[in-house]
Amino acid sequence: MMFRAAVITLSDSSYRGEREDLSGPEIVRILKEADYEIASTDLLPDDRKMLADRMREICDDGLADLIVTTGGTGFSPRDVTPEATDDVKERAVPGIPEAIRAYSMTITPRAMLSRETAGIRKHTLIINLPGSPKAVNESLTYILPSLKHGLEILLGLTGNCARK
Ligand code: MTE
Repeated sequence: MMFRAAVITLSDSSYRGEREDLSGPEIVRILKEADYEIASTDLLPDDRKMLADRMREICDDGLADLIVTTGGTGFSPRDVTPEATDDVKERAVPGIPEAIRAYSMTITPRAMLSRETAGIRKHTLIINLPGSPKAVNESLTYILPSLKHGLEILLGLTGNCARK
């Protein structure tokens, strides 16, 4: 089973064409290497409604099994990715951001500054990652091995948690 992933970059400066988006392509590279199909990529400004609308569309139209966002999780007044995610998620998935932050804290104490969250809407899992390619790489490679099992349960492909 090949899972379908939608990648969304949130960055005012990249959206305006002032800064190359390196984090979105890094997510695409890592997911492709892990055999995910890239259903779509979006580059959006840090706009709560635009992001929430796009995520709702992906979830409600069943366009992807997984949405990974990058950027907009910090303390800047324009960082609203977690709030947009809260607007659309039907069920919270606290363990994934907890795990990302716990692991990332072993790399940099600044990991505590990411407000990233995760949740489920319909049959799509949404995960926020921070904005830098470095943070994206560290976070995504850490959660990837467990993600497959979660998606299999979410899509009803298995109910069985083999012990590991
Ligand atoms: N997590 C990891 N694994 N590696 C990092 O370098 N950077 C942190 C944090 N999480 C970092 C990380 C920093 S410096 C910030 S400000 C926050 O993520 C928020 O990033 P964002 O505003 O780009 O979303």
